[in-house]
Amino acid sequence: MSHIPVDKGGPLTPHRDLHSEQGALRGEHPGRARNPVIKVADLAWLEFEKPDLDRAEVFARDFGFTIAARTRHELWLRGTFAGSPCMVIRRGSASRFLGPAFRAAERADVVRLAAAVGHTVRDIDVPGGGRSVALFDPSGLPVRVVHCAEPLPALPEQPPLTLNTGTEPRRTNATQRPPREPSRIQRLGHVVLETRTFTRTLDWYLDTLGMIVSDFLFLDGQRERGPTMAFIRCDQDSTPVDHHTVALHLGPGTGYVHSAYQVTDLDSIAAGGEYLAERGYQRSWGIGRHIQGSQLFDYWRDPDRFMLEHFADGDLLSCDLEPGWAPMSASGLAQWGPPVTRDFLGTNPSPAKLREVMTALRGDNELDPARLLGLMKAMSS
Ligand SMILES: [Fe+2]
Repeated sequence: MSHIPVDKGGPLTPHRDLHSEQGALRGEHPGRARNPVIKVADLAWLEFEKPDLDRAEVFARDFGFTIAARTRHELWLRGTFAGSPCMVIRRGSASRFLGPAFRAAERADVVRLAAAVGHTVRDIDVPGGGRSVALFDPSGLPVRVVHCAEPLPALPEQPPLTLNTGTEPRRTNATQRPPREPSRIQRLGHVVLETRTFTRTLDWYLDTLGMIVSDFLFLDGQRERGPTMAFIRCDQDSTPVDHHTVALHLGPGTGYVHSAYQVTDLDSIAAGGEYLAERGYQRSWGIGRHIQGSQLFDYWRDPDRFMLEHFADGDLLSCDLEPGWAPMSASGLAQWGPPVTRDFLGTNPSPAKLREVMTALRGDNELDPARLLGLMKAMSS
C-alpha cells in the first residue's frame, strides 16, 4: 500500500496538529493512505443474527433504540437522529455478528468501490431502499458499503438537562428531574473489532474505505514491532467526526467486541443505566470517561452476551490531526470510573478462550508468544 510518509526529522513533539501527548516516530505507520479507493462518511448500521427476535426487541427498547421496522424475519433498530437505521437483527439459528455496513458519501462511491474490487452493486432491503456492495476485510469479516435512497426522518429527542456549572448559573427557579426511563439512543457511534491480522486489516480500512487513524496503541517494550490497536475515524475533510468509528485491536479472536450508541448526556447514561439494572441486565463496566476519544461510557451485556455501550460527549476531530501514540494498558482505558472489569477486558478464563489462543498461536497471523505476553501484561497494568 502507499502511505503518506512521515519524515519530520525525528520524534514528533506535541504540535498544533496533534491532540495527544506523543506522536509518531520517524518511519512509523502514518495512519492514513495516500490514495484510498473511496472515503466512507460514517458507519451506517451493524448486522446481527439471532434466534429470538422478540427477546432482542425487548432488550432493544430497554436499551433505548426505536423500532424502525419489524417483520417475522428482521428487526431494524434506529436512533432519533435522521439518517440510516443503526442495527438490523435477522432471524437465524445462532446468535452472531454478521458485520458492519458503512455509509458511502455518495451513490457514485458505491459504484466506484464495486468496480475497484470487481464486485456487483446490489439493491438492499433497508427501510427506504438503497444500493450496496459486499466485501470482506482481511480478517474475513463481511463488510458492506451502502447508500440509502431515503434517509429516515429525525424523531423527538430526549432533551439534555440544563446544568448549573461554572460561574454562570443557567437554571434558576426550576428543578432537575431526569426521568427514570430508557436512554434514548441518538445514533450508532462506533464498533470495536478484534483481529489476528491487525496491520493487514487496518491497512485495508485505510486503503479501501479511506479511514484515518486518530490514536495508535503499542505494547510496552515492543513499539518497534508496530502498533497493536488503532482508533480510526472517517475522513470528512474539515467536518469534525467521531474520534473513532472503528477501533481495531490485535488479539486471539476475530470479530465483534462491542458497539457504541450515543445518548444526550451523563444523566441519560446514568438514569438509563438504572433502568437497565432494575430489569436485571448485566453492566459490564461503567460509568466512566475514556482517554482515547474522551467519551462518557457505560457498557452493558445484552441477553446474548453481546456488549453494547451508551456514550455521550465524545471528541470530534477534523481530518488534519495526526495520530497520537501511547502504550496500551488497562489503567489507560479511563480517566475516571470504577476499575476496569475482567468481563470488559475479555480476560475471564474459559475453555473456549484457551482454544482460541491455541489456534491463533498455531496459525499464520500477527499473534505470537511475545505479543500474547505483551497483551496479557497490558491488560493487567
Ligand atoms: Fe467504545
